[in-house]
Amino acid sequence: MSRTPLIAGNWKMYKTGPEAVETALTLSRLCSKIQDVEVMIAPTFLSLPLVAASIEGTRIKIGAQNLYFEKQGAFTGEVSAAMIKAAGAEYVIIGHSERRLYFEETDTSVCRKIKSAIEEGLKPILCIGESETQRDEEKTFSVLDKQVSDGLKGFGPDELAQLVLAYEPVWAIGTGKTASVDQVGQVHQYLRSLLENLFSSNLAHTTRILYGGSVKPENAKDLMSIKDVDGALVGGASLDANNFIKIIKYK
Ligand code: PGA
Repeated sequence: MSRTPLIAGNWKMYKTGPEAVETALTLSRLCSKIQDVEVMIAPTFLSLPLVAASIEGTRIKIGAQNLYFEKQGAFTGEVSAAMIKAAGAEYVIIGHSERRLYFEETDTSVCRKIKSAIEEGLKPILCIGESETQRDEEKTFSVLDKQVSDGLKGFGPDELAQLVLAYEPVWAIGTGKTASVDQVGQVHQYLRSLLENLFSSNLAHTTRILYGGSVKPENAKDLMSIKDVDGALVGGASLDANNFIKIIKYK
């Protein structure tokens, strides 16, 4: 079974509703002939239903940038998996490094969020990655090992059939520094064997592993050509549809 590449745009805390809709509409026009690549955009919670409605029936999928793991209740300011699904999303980004850094997300909360996403039928994109210090101290693989093992603790391979992994070295996010082809290749190969050891060879084979961190039109082709790279999670370069389409058309 081959893995269809996924090019996902994480819009972070950018764009008002109307701005998000405008970008999504431009992107959907630019994407109308795209085949064999899946495209996803993740607007803010507020823009998500507007964007979903505006591009309904197009090839572009919608994702959320986060969720709260409880189903409902007195959790002021939070949004559940069911609410996200009902608003038109198919994917949800979980454990992004900015959430780990600024919002005290831990592998334990990440694991509960993955569970909640799976229970609602949302496809989780689990983000993992080492900091610059961790890389300098040669802890990259042990950090990733822990993030994957603890973030996916308690699941069997069948439950994880829709999982997407996103390797995003923290030092490459929004910095303009991209991991080298060798660094990305080594990590992605490592992650695939980790999935095999923890779950099954089938899951290791079918799970898409994205690279994220300063992906741009100029480096997309090189990154996407690396064995075991099945797509990209793009921040800054996804905000402008005319720029993002160049990454989507990396071939
Ligand atoms: P960047 O962000 O492309 O702006 O580096 C990537 C991400 O945070 O997912």
